[in-house]
Amino acid sequence: MQFKFSALADAMKPSEIRELLKYVSVPGLISFGGGMPHPSSFPVNDINTITSDLLLEKGRQLLQYGSTQGYEDLRVQLVKLVKETENISTDKDHFVLTAGSQEALYSVSKIMTTPGEEVLCEAPTYIGTISAFRANGTVMRGIPMDENGILTEKLEEKIKTMKAAGKLPKFIYLIPTFQNPSGISLSLDRRKHVLELASRYQIPIVEDNPYGELRYSGNKLPSLKSLDKEDLVIYMSTFSKILSPGLRVGFTCAPDAVVNKMNLLKQATNLATNTLAEAIAAEYLKRDLMRKNMPAVVKMYREKRDTMIDALETNFGSDANWSHPDGGMFLWLALNDKINTTDMLKRAIEKKVAYVSGSAFYPNNPTFNTMRLNFTYSDNDQIVDGISRLAKVAKEEISLIAP
Ligand SMILES: Cc1ncc(COP(=O)(O)O)c(C=O)c1O
Repeated sequence: MQFKFSALADAMKPSEIRELLKYVSVPGLISFGGGMPHPSSFPVNDINTITSDLLLEKGRQLLQYGSTQGYEDLRVQLVKLVKETENISTDKDHFVLTAGSQEALYSVSKIMTTPGEEVLCEAPTYIGTISAFRANGTVMRGIPMDENGILTEKLEEKIKTMKAAGKLPKFIYLIPTFQNPSGISLSLDRRKHVLELASRYQIPIVEDNPYGELRYSGNKLPSLKSLDKEDLVIYMSTFSKILSPGLRVGFTCAPDAVVNKMNLLKQATNLATNTLAEAIAAEYLKRDLMRKNMPAVVKMYREKRDTMIDALETNFGSDANWSHPDGGMFLWLALNDKINTTDMLKRAIEKKVAYVSGSAFYPNNPTFNTMRLNFTYSDNDQIVDGISRLAKVAKEEISLIAP
């Protein structure tokens, strides 16, 4: 059978990260590729106790179909969580629970855009958002960043040009804190500027914040949602980086109209997400285990970040530039601009080190000499070895290009 797919399905491409996962099991390979938490961060015993308590207490309820909007106890806990962590004031009816925030990204682009319509985002941006939006035919236009995040002057210029052409962007998608892939955070002044633009031109903002709790240095910056007085911001986050990505529990906090449409879409796509997993997350918060467990995780990741930065300094010196993130899971590395990191990846994998090349993170106009390095998944000695291997590969690459 020769299957004929839709134009949107034909436009889908496998992500470089999924391709890379094939090599994760190659013996001895050190992967800085995926965005995975360290396995020791998973509170296996807590989850075991909670699950068994929940099944004993209300197994017959939790194994039944659940509410489309998501398990109510978790939405109640989330009201407290976002108040404490992000100073967001809301109530349980403004949350929709999803299978990770990935489902929320897909949902938001589906309900907010008609195929071919444009949204603005940071360049580079999260690869999973590029796939989710592409699957809906949403066109992303990247705006460059510097070490303080998206260049809001350029964002303003772009909005003005689009307005003059009679088609404002449908929304602005941002990861303001410890951005994936760059690790960079948007400065306070620029946060205010983005909100001012959103208000002036009445453009919604989608704020994606999976990494806010992973801060290793510097001072907390207010979320866009907490600064928003006009219901401009659709805020989303996830339990993937603070509890477990395998549970697949994400949440969106949004104005009524958006919650309603997301619910309608969920009815069409999955009826409801995993109630048992949502109940586990609720109980984890209720028992105050996040507050108890996160300091050790943050300490471990701070050491990993510092180990990677030290290894980069030792092995690359002035041959490369890299970001110095205050949190999150990633560093962004720029090599000599003659190097194409996509071409180099095959040779890196032969030398048993992997990364994701930077070009994968651009919806348009990619850079080719960059890469994203994850520092949370590997052990410290693997980080040291892996960066040393990477530096050798990069040196060889230069000699291949300019013998
Ligand atoms: C910026 C960003 N958004 C969303 C996600 C999706 O996370 P999940 O679906 O596991 O909640 C990720 C995962 O790495 C991410 O980095």
